[in-house]
Amino acid sequence: MTLLCSLDEITDGEARGFEINEQKLVAVKHRGELYVYHNNCPHRSIPLEWMPDQFLDFDKNFIQCSTHGALFRIEDGECIAGPCIGDRLDTIPHRIEADQVYIELPGAMTQK
Ligand code: FES
Repeated sequence: MTLLCSLDEITDGEARGFEINEQKLVAVKHRGELYVYHNNCPHRSIPLEWMPDQFLDFDKNFIQCSTHGALFRIEDGECIAGPCIGDRLDTIPHRIEADQVYIELPGAMTQK
């Protein structure tokens, strides 16, 4: 597992971008739950945001791609509107221990 951040670095209702081992990630805290995805829109395989840490739609109910406006459910990453409807963001498995967020990066060396 790789340390992402401490849990209180992400405010509820907000998202943050990270780059770890050259992989771009987005973490969203939504209604007290944390979700971590690859920051990669399935439509064109490009990062979702245009401005740093701006990943959510106006009402903060969906992750929104800044390029063509695809909307993804925060809870499971499924695209529910836009050009890649039905596709999903790649989930990054994570674990919270002592208020620290650890993630399982594909291809990363695992640390115990
Ligand atoms: S690149 Fe994301 S919707 Fe087109």
